[in-house]
Amino acid sequence: MLTITDLVHSYGPHRVLGGVSLSVAEGELVSVVGPSGCGKSTLLRSVAGLLKPSGGRIMLAGRPVERTPDDLAIVFQDYSRSLFPWMSAANNVALPLRRKGLDRRRRREAAMSALDQVGLADAGAKYPWEMSGGMQQRVSIARALAYRPSLLLMDEPFGSVDAQTREDLEDLVLNVCAHHGMTILLITHDIDESVYVGDRVVVLTRSPAVVAADLETRLGRSRDQIATRQLDAFVRLRAEVGRLVRGGHTTEPTSVLEKQ
Ligand SMILES: Nc1ncnc2c1ncn2[C@@H]1O[C@H](COP(=O)(O)OP(=O)(O)O)[C@@H](O)[C@H]1O
Ligand SMILES: [Mg+2]
Repeated sequence: MLTITDLVHSYGPHRVLGGVSLSVAEGELVSVVGPSGCGKSTLLRSVAGLLKPSGGRIMLAGRPVERTPDDLAIVFQDYSRSLFPWMSAANNVALPLRRKGLDRRRRREAAMSALDQVGLADAGAKYPWEMSGGMQQRVSIARALAYRPSLLLMDEPFGSVDAQTREDLEDLVLNVCAHHGMTILLITHDIDESVYVGDRVVVLTRSPAVVAADLETRLGRSRDQIATRQLDAFVRLRAEVGRLVRGGHTTEPTSVLEKQ
């Protein structure tokens, strides 16, 4: 579905991505974790066609990414700039569905159902400025879900919500990936989260970032916030990812590694 090869990017003299290669198969949920400032958002903006990388190649469904692909949805880290302030939550969610050729009633139904999925069934008529940061981010997530993109990009999507909502949204994303066969690339700096939601965890080094490890989580698809996090496999993998994010080397003998 998505193949990134030797992606390099510099802002002026500052090299941020030092040759990142990774791939995401259809229906897979891959989390990318790395230290703050290592270039995660730069990587995501490149995949989204919002930034022209200095070098390397990005192929989406067999085509090079040159502009923002049609069948893509993005949930940005910065929720405060991602909704139209003059539109209600329901209208924000419904807007992109025009491109899908749905009539007004269908758009409305899809929007209300997506808002319901993120726990905002009663907030459809509210405007962004009437909602907390966490609620606005849930509206952005609802908008992405309603669109049913073939690839969903998420950049630290749960950073601004409270812990309980965060867990609910992690489970929602897992469900959506499982039930709608959506392919998701989720970027986070949260080590626990990367392991909990991912089929695979791709760990980036400090910038200039390269892939330090590409690990299969092997936790199965049905996960539970309490039980899964207590599994030996989870605890080991979290420790491993933590070490790698801090710049250490892998000690995990069973992991699938692509050392660069
Ligand atoms: N538009 C930009 N112009 C110049 N430097 C940038 C720009 N965007 C990001 N950077 C710098 O590039 C580095 C990586 O940024 P970013 O991709 O946002 O990292 P992350 O998302 O991992 O925190 C940071 O040092 C950041 O300050
Ligand atoms: Mg970022």
